[in-house]
Amino acid sequence: MPSYVITGVSKGLGFEFLRQISSTNNTVIGLARDVAATKKRVNEELSGRTNIHILHGDLNDYETLQKAAAETADITGGSLDYLIANASHISYWDSYDPIGTLAQDPKRLEKELTEHYRATVLGNINLYASFIPLILKGQVKKVIAISTGLSDLDITNQLELELAPLYAIAKAGLNMMTAKFSAQYRKEGVLFMNVCPGVVDVGHSRNTTPAQMASLMTMREKFQTYAPHFKGPATPEESVRDVISVWERASIEKGDAGHLVSHFGDKQFL
Ligand SMILES: NC(=O)c1ccc[n+]([C@@H]2O[C@H](COP(=O)([O-])OP(=O)(O)OC[C@H]3O[C@@H](n4cnc5c(N)ncnc54)[C@H](OP(=O)(O)O)[C@@H]3O)[C@@H](O)[C@H]2O)c1
Repeated sequence: MPSYVITGVSKGLGFEFLRQISSTNNTVIGLARDVAATKKRVNEELSGRTNIHILHGDLNDYETLQKAAAETADITGGSLDYLIANASHISYWDSYDPIGTLAQDPKRLEKELTEHYRATVLGNINLYASFIPLILKGQVKKVIAISTGLSDLDITNQLELELAPLYAIAKAGLNMMTAKFSAQYRKEGVLFMNVCPGVVDVGHSRNTTPAQMASLMTMREKFQTYAPHFKGPATPEESVRDVISVWERASIEKGDAGHLVSHFGDKQFL
């Protein structure tokens, strides 16, 4: 059965990837910053699944990624089929304001953008580099970055999407970084690609103020003009099912290498 490494499995989509992929006999290695809390959750909600292994993995800590790769090799016998780069630095500072407003606080802007870039771009470069020797020895050879449609130039320009600029900039860096790995490794049969999971309710807008909610509603109205069928966020279960289906259908031969696609597998993001 195939082997998987998934980052950021403590909660949200990461935990749901862990849950769905470990429901059959796959070997599933989840990376988390808080190993004890994640193991506790796995024991409570997915008890008896001996095919799940939780290892320490922090995108901001190169040594943890190297160690996780070495421990993964011990578990799998030296290879890996799928690497799912799901973890993401989440900050709410840029979620509700456009870039010109945020730029009025240059010190905070520098701090926040640096944190996004460090985890999402540099952290994932270190993640890919740590695991590529195992992927090259695997059968399936798929590396999937969980990105966002907010980092797509066409939809940003079409809908004038102003919110979450720092998150979107870092994810655009992730998309290009994944494309660069694709450019290097597709000739060795490795599919690298970016997939947006759609808009998913993982509890991020739980504590929004009325003003923040108004900003989100403006964006929601833009989504509605783009996709009149859009009725609101999906559940993690629906989104993860869609994303898995996208990467299962995708291949180098079909032209997917290095691209950013939606949870539908194309450029329709909602
Ligand atoms: N939800 C959506 O609507 C949506 C839309 C588009 C794209 N996405 C993408 O989907 C992915 C999953 O996000 P989510 O919605 O499930 O959010 P989430 O529930 O906040 O989960 C984020 C995960 O990333 C981990 N993480 C954060 N910083 C990390 C670091 N430095 N090193 C390692 N792990 C780190 C978190 O671990 P801790 O528990 O330790 O903080 C957590 O497990 C992300 O890549 C996100 O950008 C989500």
